[in-house]
Amino acid sequence: MASISDSPAWKALQEHVADVEQTHLKDLLRDQQRCEALIKEEGGLYIDFSRQRMTQETVKLLLDLAEASDLKAKTQAMFSGEHINSTEDRAVLHVATRARRDQVIVCDGKNVVPDVWEVLDKIKGFADKVRGGEWLGSTGKPIKKVVAVGIGGSFLGPLFVHTALRTEPRAMSFSKGRELRFLANVDPIDVARALQGLDPEETMVVIISKTFTTAETMLNARTCRAWLTAQLGKEAVAKHMVAVSTNLKLVKEFGIDPENAFGFWDWVGGRYSVCSAVGMLPLTLQYGWDIMGQFLNGANAMDDHFLNAPLESNLPVMMGLTSVWNISFLGYPARAILPYCQALSKLAPHIQQVSMESNGKGVDIDGKPLPFEAGEIDFGEPGTNGQHSFYQLIHQGRIIPCDFIGIVRSQQSVYLKNEIVSNHDELMCNFFAQADALAYGKSGTELRSQNVPDFLVPHRVFTGNRPSLSLLLPELNAYTVGQLLSLYEHQVAVQGFVWNINSFDQWGVELGKVLASKVRTKINEARNNNRFIAGSDGFNYSTTRMINKYLAGKEQ
Ligand code: F6P
Repeated sequence: MASISDSPAWKALQEHVADVEQTHLKDLLRDQQRCEALIKEEGGLYIDFSRQRMTQETVKLLLDLAEASDLKAKTQAMFSGEHINSTEDRAVLHVATRARRDQVIVCDGKNVVPDVWEVLDKIKGFADKVRGGEWLGSTGKPIKKVVAVGIGGSFLGPLFVHTALRTEPRAMSFSKGRELRFLANVDPIDVARALQGLDPEETMVVIISKTFTTAETMLNARTCRAWLTAQLGKEAVAKHMVAVSTNLKLVKEFGIDPENAFGFWDWVGGRYSVCSAVGMLPLTLQYGWDIMGQFLNGANAMDDHFLNAPLESNLPVMMGLTSVWNISFLGYPARAILPYCQALSKLAPHIQQVSMESNGKGVDIDGKPLPFEAGEIDFGEPGTNGQHSFYQLIHQGRIIPCDFIGIVRSQQSVYLKNEIVSNHDELMCNFFAQADALAYGKSGTELRSQNVPDFLVPHRVFTGNRPSLSLLLPELNAYTVGQLLSLYEHQVAVQGFVWNINSFDQWGVELGKVLASKVRTKINEARNNNRFIAGSDGFNYSTTRMINKYLAGKEQ
């Protein structure tokens, strides 16, 4: 297929940019009918797109683009197990990891849902035993602490969900006396922090790696094994180490009994694996099945909505199309994810991987160079912290579309006598205010009418017209965390389907890994022979000099 950018639908949007450039959000927001048309609700989630730089004509043209890019057919192909990850010849079926028990999802001629539930049942049984004190450590103590070792997709999603649930009252009551920690970085500081103060007798280490070959994770796994066995003896591995992987052969070679391994499948991408054993094992150990089952239900409900709802009322589709509009037509390549909820502090880092590893591509699905830039630069911090950090740039510097995320009923409440509003109301006042501050701005005329001295006016002008969306969740619990996860995952898929790229491979992370391996070999050789790196080791002048500076410093 020719590039999507050659399609009449793409060209119509390009021409339409000139019309939108004539508008200002402060005027667009006066149109109540437009606002109403741009508010979408589903399953308790409320998304207001009215502060995006879009008219109803823009939406119509974006829906034409969705048609032109076969969005519906591509979505259906994903849900029906076609090998849409063509460079790895794999299906993309993370939706199956949260399928209802009675659903049928076929991959390569086989319904995979029974396999999914076999693993989920095993997780539930195992977690019940550990949590109930039936599974004891090698010295007979109950296991209270879990360290989840993994990186990238085997870390960020589970960390996001754990951070979201830690202060949710029901989840808290189910996790009393238990602790879940994460170890991702190969940095010995992360190792020290993850193990600090833990008693190996009551600790379980869960090694999470799809491939079971990731250098950082495997080194950390060996370090944790040494930590456990130094204190408890070799036999402790059987009671204190379990694994999550698609590579059960390597799990066994590492010394973990395959009985204590929880599998998943090559049709689950690492960054999309939160609902597989990757997230479900550590999180069920921490919170129990009642909570984590709700999480799966929330994700599954959003999957159903994505697959079945008409495009114009489909939340992931509307979010995906809006971001394509911002990136490819208005020329805003970045997005800030700004939850007004401390429990969502790990949402942005997780979605950053989902989005940037998926859509950071330079060629289309057929390998042809893209005539436009795909991908989105995602970052974010919870409000109001971010307001005191990088919002200056968003208000008066570059234009960065924002996703504001607010919660109606907070997980926790603090009411102080004599304060005007509660802590949560105060937080949400900022949530409401920021979106309008970006949209409306403040003109020189307004400033002068407030007697701002002339020399200060240019510094204090806010041009406004800066786009954002506002997403309200009724509360943050396991179910809504599942909805939110699936919403963002599918938004990323929509972007990739429209740009006609493969969002499900990640060849771009390979080169750095190969070069690190060469450095590893050469540093090892140099150390063993008590010498520095030489010109003949094959690095450029700069790298040779820098490695030698490092080696010299080490010897002092
Ligand atoms: O960074 C590349 C990557 O392959 C990610 O896609 C993946 O989530 C991560 O490494 C970890 O991989 P694994 O689960 O195989 O250890």
